[in-house]
Amino acid sequence: MKCLLSRHTLGKTLGRVFQRVSLTLGVIKCKAAVLWEQNKPFSIEEIEVAPPKAKEVRIKILATGICRTDDHVMKGTMVAKFPVIVGHEAAGVVESIGEGVTTVKPGDKVIPLFVPQCRECNACRNPNGNLCIRSDITGRGVLADGTTRFTCKGKPIYHFANTSTFTEYTVVDEFSVAKIDDAAPLEKVCLIGCGFSTGYGAAVKTGKVGPGSTCVVFGLGGVGLSVIVGCKSAGASRIIGIDINKDKFEKAMALGATECISPKDFTKPISEVLSEMTGNTVEYTFEVIGRLETMIDALASCHANYGTSVVVGAPPSAKLLTYDPMLLFTGRTWKGCIFGGWKSRDDVPKLVSDFLEKKFDLDQLITHVLPFQKISEGFELLYSGQSIRTVLTF
Ligand SMILES: NC(=O)c1ccc[n+]([C@@H]2O[C@H](COP(=O)([O-])OP(=O)(O)OC[C@H]3O[C@@H](n4cnc5c(N)ncnc54)[C@H](O)[C@@H]3O)[C@@H](O)[C@H]2O)c1
Ligand SMILES: [Zn+2]
Ligand SMILES: [Zn+2]
Repeated sequence: MKCLLSRHTLGKTLGRVFQRVSLTLGVIKCKAAVLWEQNKPFSIEEIEVAPPKAKEVRIKILATGICRTDDHVMKGTMVAKFPVIVGHEAAGVVESIGEGVTTVKPGDKVIPLFVPQCRECNACRNPNGNLCIRSDITGRGVLADGTTRFTCKGKPIYHFANTSTFTEYTVVDEFSVAKIDDAAPLEKVCLIGCGFSTGYGAAVKTGKVGPGSTCVVFGLGGVGLSVIVGCKSAGASRIIGIDINKDKFEKAMALGATECISPKDFTKPISEVLSEMTGNTVEYTFEVIGRLETMIDALASCHANYGTSVVVGAPPSAKLLTYDPMLLFTGRTWKGCIFGGWKSRDDVPKLVSDFLEKKFDLDQLITHVLPFQKISEGFELLYSGQSIRTVLTF
């Protein structure tokens, strides 16, 4: 009995030692795409990634999508501190955890979350909220303790949107990561980290699209197409896609759009065109471009009384919008949403399970797969309008 007890104690001690060893893993040197300055190309650098501190998680990124929001940072339309590692739509495996981390462990498949869920703030506690106070929408560029885990050539490199995924390894706060099903193919479910969930949620969660309704989606990129998927799954009977690039129409139709139009083909305002096309029955509109003019167009295009318009496209920073309040006075609802309104740590694992159960398809959204080192090529495909989503693999 005595012997058994001491063996048990020894086991516990060894366990603690091993735990301490795994907690004090060293700095990792790896490749990352660093943006040293605004409007400058990515430079692939060797960086140092410090070990995770308490309540932090170091992740080996295995797949990351290219989203327009990353480009907004490069161009300065979205604020961030430079030098920075952008990228926020990814999936990977936990490499190590800091002290006190309980929700993920080394080896777990995970998705980093650009909208965290601390489960303590007002937004997290409200059933309708999802924009956790820990979200870095003002571009602080650091983890919760106020410091960065990245250095390159002796200089600190800032984080982006609680995630930073254009790197072989990243460190995130525990509230910014969700464990997902072991069976999930990472090179596909990375899209659940941003584009797919944002668009799909904008339709089913924020817009609350109803069966039989008419929906209009402005902008047919990866996010806009995901809005179409959401509208279709909510039972919309008419889904009109709008884009100035007609090459996007075929995919939009394949995913559920019932017709597509380009504003360039009309001289009258698009709201009038849509009203005539539908007999004034547009119930939901979605702006998924990120332009002030199209935000107003989308608002004006939903029914004057019972219409709802959702802003999904990221507004350019430091820009103001002037609009006729009569548009709202008559009864329209104008909403916005970040990350499709999902509560990230609760909902991302469920969305991954839904994908595994084939409730929606991600293949159609992934037009290109490139090795991480070809990141600049991936952005060129976005600029030329050829890609929907490019997934970079490591
Ligand atoms: N709210 C969020 O949480 C969230 C999350 C992800 C992305 N976003 C934002 O959503 C927007 C779309 O992202 P994406 O990755 O799909 O971008 P994208 O660049 O792939 O798609 C935008 C589409 O809009 C079209 N377009 C451009 N100008 C137009 C115009 N004047 N009229 C009609 N169509 C026009 C383009 O041809 C393109 O097909 C971006 O602003 C992005 O920052 C927001
Ligand atoms: Zn994104
Ligand atoms: Zn919170």
